[in-house]
Amino acid sequence: MRTHTCGELRLTDAGKSATLSGWVVSKREFGPFIFIMLWDRYGQTQVVFEEPLLVEEAKKLSLEDVVRVEGFVRDRGDNRTDKYETGAIEVKAATIELLNPSKPLPYDHRKEAADTLKLKYRYLDIRKSDLLPTLVARSKMAKAVRDYMDANAFVEVETPILGKSTPEGAKEYLVPSRLHHGLFYSLPQSPQSFKQICMIGGIDRYYQMAKCFRDEDLRADRQPEFTQIDIEMSFIAEEDIMTLSEGLIAHLFKVVKGIDIPRPFKRLPFREAMDRYGSDKPDTRYGLEFIDMRENFRNSGFNAFKGAAEDPKKSVKAIVLEGKGAELSKNRIKAMEKDVQGDGAKGLAWVKKEGGALDSPLLKFFSPVELEKLAALIPDGAVMFLVADETRIVQTALGNLRRRLAAEFDLYDKNGFAFLWVTEFPAFEHSEEEGKWVATHHPFTDFDLETARKGDMANVSSRAYDMVINGYEVGGGSIRIHNTAKQAEVFKLLGIEPQEAQEKFGFLLEALDLGAPPHGGIAFGFDRLVMILLGIDNIRSVIAFPKTTSASCLMTGSPSGVSQKQLDELAIKPVG
Ligand code: AMO
Ligand code: AMP
Repeated sequence: MRTHTCGELRLTDAGKSATLSGWVVSKREFGPFIFIMLWDRYGQTQVVFEEPLLVEEAKKLSLEDVVRVEGFVRDRGDNRTDKYETGAIEVKAATIELLNPSKPLPYDHRKEAADTLKLKYRYLDIRKSDLLPTLVARSKMAKAVRDYMDANAFVEVETPILGKSTPEGAKEYLVPSRLHHGLFYSLPQSPQSFKQICMIGGIDRYYQMAKCFRDEDLRADRQPEFTQIDIEMSFIAEEDIMTLSEGLIAHLFKVVKGIDIPRPFKRLPFREAMDRYGSDKPDTRYGLEFIDMRENFRNSGFNAFKGAAEDPKKSVKAIVLEGKGAELSKNRIKAMEKDVQGDGAKGLAWVKKEGGALDSPLLKFFSPVELEKLAALIPDGAVMFLVADETRIVQTALGNLRRRLAAEFDLYDKNGFAFLWVTEFPAFEHSEEEGKWVATHHPFTDFDLETARKGDMANVSSRAYDMVINGYEVGGGSIRIHNTAKQAEVFKLLGIEPQEAQEKFGFLLEALDLGAPPHGGIAFGFDRLVMILLGIDNIRSVIAFPKTTSASCLMTGSPSGVSQKQLDELAIKPVG
């Protein structure tokens, strides 16, 4: 239906005949003539109607009509423009065919439109916004991933969507079985068990662009279904996986942005990340690191500081904002304190230094020694913020304050990238909800058994690692336990009964006994990588058909009710 796309014709085509098909995106009358701009994925071309009969036809066209035009390419001469690729030429129409008229669009894409409207008409948003180039870039990234993995001898294996419970720890989506009433498939939170089984099958190097499903609260970087670059390797240790992963990320940066990124990436043990940044995924494009003030305030006259300094479960930490920090008004700091209190902290103390002198409502509580220490830590013109509280609260509150300050005071290069591995995650965490220890990553992660045997569960470190870019956790993985004796010991430590373990993961436990090689892997959030590489801050903007924060698809109207017949077949009776 066309000889060229709307982005293809150049000056060298002048004099040729051409047929274009596309959407009418603008129309203007110029004396007796009519100009339309014809658009498709590849670009836009100006079409001019000069013959009176054709002008009459063209007058009837509406925006977004789908048309086919046949004509001659000609030089635009003085009217050439370099605003778009075909700007040197235009097509003088000889025939026009209306392939399909369009109704007026339900919203004006040039103005702010409600997100709900854009999600309902997602195809219009794809056609009229930056979404289409994003999807093209995403497709190229997926190919770059496959090229890299293929070049490194990885085999892409597809694993089932109708599966069995996986151990990632979010809520699962369940699919009722028609043939087995009362039984359910679960949609994979990740192909974790299957990729380990692949290693036991001797595949040696597995990867998959895998769809994963997690029924969890959604955020700007989370969707209920998302895509992982899922990887597993045999006969390896941490180094092998990290080197391979850095190579993959470097390849993507090269293909997408044409830049060489520095390798190897920095590494930061989890505890250090929490101590210095209050986060297990710190954005290291900027400093604003925490200063531990425990020693300074052990004997403080300010009770909140003294109390926290003396209590091993609590901390007193500070961050120093240099530059214009000391110019912050009391009201501005009050507002910051509100935010910090929103994270559970009791307050936000501050000390400024201007013209060599300290200023703070708390000065009267501090001894000369404390004042001296503070003066040494705060450069002139800076403000120090302090929070004393339970360590977990200090980390969250000060960590979030750190992020907000960096954004507000432009403390980093928006086009820069900071790559990081966070390592030595604690193997176990205490779940308040379940009242017991649970696996931090998943129960197949290898860990330091000696410490666990001593019963010091909080300090058992695991062989898990996360890759962090600009404060996003882009990937995570671990070296796995590859023998059943150790695996059984984990289940015991976690209070998982042998019968429960058997029911949930019996197939994997059996497989571990039948020649499992040492193995480990990692999974990258592909959507998050697309976001970061394209500089987009919302995951919805890199997914063709995303869900809302309440996990609905506004275009198709899912989730939706189903017929009584379907429910009967599945033997399901809705409650209420
Ligand atoms: P994990 O649960 O850390 O590990 O997931 C791996 C990566 O997937 C991305 N991710 C998400 N992206 C978008 N929306 C979500 N809801 C979402 N949840 C996770 C993150 C994360 O780093 N099986 C293990 C991997 C392994 O051990 O090899 C796993 O799934 O970028
Ligand atoms: P107060 O003694 O409670 O009136 O607090 C005096 C100042 O110290 C106020 O600015 C509070 O926000 C701050 N402050 C109080 N408790 C803490 C705390 N636990 N950590 C940091 N600052 C605090």
